[in-house]
Amino acid sequence: MKISITLTGLLLAGNLLAQNTLILKPSAEPVKINKEIYGHFSEHLGTCIYEGIFVGEDSEIPNIDGFRTDVVAAFKELKVPVLRWPGGCFADTYHWKDGIGPREDRPSIVNVFWGGVTEDNSFGTHEFLNFCELIGTEPYLSINVGTGTVQEAVEWVEYVTSDNKSPMTDLRKKNGREAPWDVKFWGIGNENWGCGGDMAPDYYANIFRNYSSYIRGGDFQKIICGPSEDDTAWTETILSGLEGKQHLAQGVSMHYYTLPTADWSNKGSSTDFGEDMWFATLRNTMYVEDYIKQHLAIMDKYDPEGKIKLIVDEWGTWYDKLPGTKDGFLQQQNTVRDALVAGINLNIFNSHADRISMANIAQIVNVLQAVILTRGPEMVKTPTYYVFSMYNVHQDATLVPIELISERYEYQGEQIPAVTASASEKDGTVSITITNANPSKPITIKCQLGTEYKLVNSEIVTGREITDYNDFGKEEKVTISDFDPGRIKKQELQIEVPAHSVILIQLEQVG
Ligand code: AHR
Repeated sequence: MKISITLTGLLLAGNLLAQNTLILKPSAEPVKINKEIYGHFSEHLGTCIYEGIFVGEDSEIPNIDGFRTDVVAAFKELKVPVLRWPGGCFADTYHWKDGIGPREDRPSIVNVFWGGVTEDNSFGTHEFLNFCELIGTEPYLSINVGTGTVQEAVEWVEYVTSDNKSPMTDLRKKNGREAPWDVKFWGIGNENWGCGGDMAPDYYANIFRNYSSYIRGGDFQKIICGPSEDDTAWTETILSGLEGKQHLAQGVSMHYYTLPTADWSNKGSSTDFGEDMWFATLRNTMYVEDYIKQHLAIMDKYDPEGKIKLIVDEWGTWYDKLPGTKDGFLQQQNTVRDALVAGINLNIFNSHADRISMANIAQIVNVLQAVILTRGPEMVKTPTYYVFSMYNVHQDATLVPIELISERYEYQGEQIPAVTASASEKDGTVSITITNANPSKPITIKCQLGTEYKLVNSEIVTGREITDYNDFGKEEKVTISDFDPGRIKKQELQIEVPAHSVILIQLEQVG
């Protein structure tokens, strides 16, 4: 009897030990978490560019050369590492020459994908690249493949990056820019399986080869349009289409949007939701890891040395538009649920930093899961902004692999891991980021550190309610606060991670 009680006790203790444990497992083969994993995306869509970034020099809204002063300051503080532009679907309708030269002479076009509004081209190549310089970010340009030509693309690359004397560089100089800009990242088409021309994958693969072979003259990273979600057939066909010509692509893009429902006409509200939509959103966002693995398996087959990287250049939540906003403007609010989505995705991207070289959340201002929202002269930083800000410590840090055993968060017979995490090391500081998806239950995680550390910083992003968000003219409900994770004992830290929260723990080795 005595023995059986002891055994039961041991088994129970064993289970408890196993559950909710995070073990740091530094690796002998260091992997860098590219800062570009913390990248953003800006499109001529709704009020992302006009109103959100660019208001023009004559605006009453304070600005620097037409760029909103408040937004510039917020992006500088956020350390935006890379910004993709001009789309999105818009990119495959965009003719860059429409957006250079005196503004009054620039032709306008109709933005056929987004609201049918008139695009006056007052924000063009110079404005975008100057803006990137102002906020200290790397530009990532999307080339028009859908309605453009190889010649137009070649001239754009030359106009922007060449140091030689040529008609294109003379034109650039005439338009006020003497020195070339340093643009490394070039996307060749966007969603060419859909809005970028409804192409078949083998047809697109050939078009990509054609464009890429003429885009020369720099140490460029040329990105082939990859799949959406779990479309492995697209990945397989474009990569087999590159056989023998893999050097033409340095990256494969992938897009994955998180919708609470599978119904595009009824995606659900960004602010008015209950636990059913909370659970569905977080479950759906976690699918991204399966998709990443599926596409990487195919990439491994065609590129066993892993030279071609995966670039998740559109990701984030997509809900129904806010009531009263324009069709095609994709305006939504951003709550604690979005903070969790951001934390979960960034943890997943960090964990695959050996193959994911960049990710760009959609979109940077006023569209979808934006980090900044503006209304006239007002601006708010969203919960997603604060998660990105807290996770900045991972930019260009060395990944510290972890083993994580998490309890499940169950809702109506379905379950997902309650906790996700990732860790990195930079300049002697280890940073661990953790999410708790359970909306009502704090979870105690035992972090086995494996060596003597002291705690140097800990922060949290959460709100009282899962639906909390930051609204114009009101006190912020969701921001970064200090957090007390307890004390390290015997190289172990037991952290009670509050319900519906994202946290950061930073440690320094002792001695
Ligand atoms: O981000 C909004 C749109 O989503 C982009 O224009 C397109 O690439 C994707 O379908």
